[in-house]
Amino acid sequence: MDKIYIAGNWKMNMTFSAADDFFAQLADYLNNNGSKKVETLIFPPFTYLELATDTAEETSLSIGAQNVSDHNNGAYTGEISADILSSMNVEYCLVGHSERRQYFKEDNSLLNKKIKKLRNFFIKPVLCVGESLAEREAGKAHEVVIKQLEKCLEGIEIDDDLLIAYEPVWAIGTGRTATPQQAQEIHKMIREWIAEKYDLKTAENLPILYGGSVKPSNLAELMTQPDINGGLIGGASLDIESYVEMLNMASKI
Ligand code: PGA
Repeated sequence: MDKIYIAGNWKMNMTFSAADDFFAQLADYLNNNGSKKVETLIFPPFTYLELATDTAEETSLSIGAQNVSDHNNGAYTGEISADILSSMNVEYCLVGHSERRQYFKEDNSLLNKKIKKLRNFFIKPVLCVGESLAEREAGKAHEVVIKQLEKCLEGIEIDDDLLIAYEPVWAIGTGRTATPQQAQEIHKMIREWIAEKYDLKTAENLPILYGGSVKPSNLAELMTQPDINGGLIGGASLDIESYVEMLNMASKI
């Protein structure tokens, strides 16, 4: 796979004017220096989706939401459905980010429902998986990730409409990154699991992103691993200069 995904997960950050400014600068970069090799993807808060999709219409930018309801539509105050996201031309959606699992108690069976809702509207789920520090130290990283994949993908046929992000919980927002070897080992295992459960072609075409303290100084060594197809980047994606630096670096890999 030649494409490299540089995906910015803004989480609960940015004001409207900061987001507006970011997208204006990003549009300028993409229209003048953007590379076809790099899939530039931003997950802003819901409230900036329209700003984001407006930019996406004029550039090569792709847009994702950070969350989706497991319900269709109706009396669910504060929730956003896949139907609503699709009506806003949202292309991707994060599912199962560790912050959603940890703080909002989202479990694998709920995430399975969310993935199904997204697929009804042809929105590509980016399924996040990853072990905690205690699980890694107990030698259970492989087992935990496989269990998340099994449960979240139960009854789901995938084609080239799903992405996986491996994000070890201990590396998110901590400044502590998995070594390229640690990340590669899990990515390879995920690809092998997909090949076994689905087929080789699906596994080969599956983008597997790494997330957890990715920044300009460690991007290249991670992205050159054979089974790493991009980064899901939190903190370092909030600053336009560092984000553009990573886009530039990815275009040269
Ligand atoms: P981080 O976040 O880059 O700030 O560690 C990554 C993520 O949570 O997706």
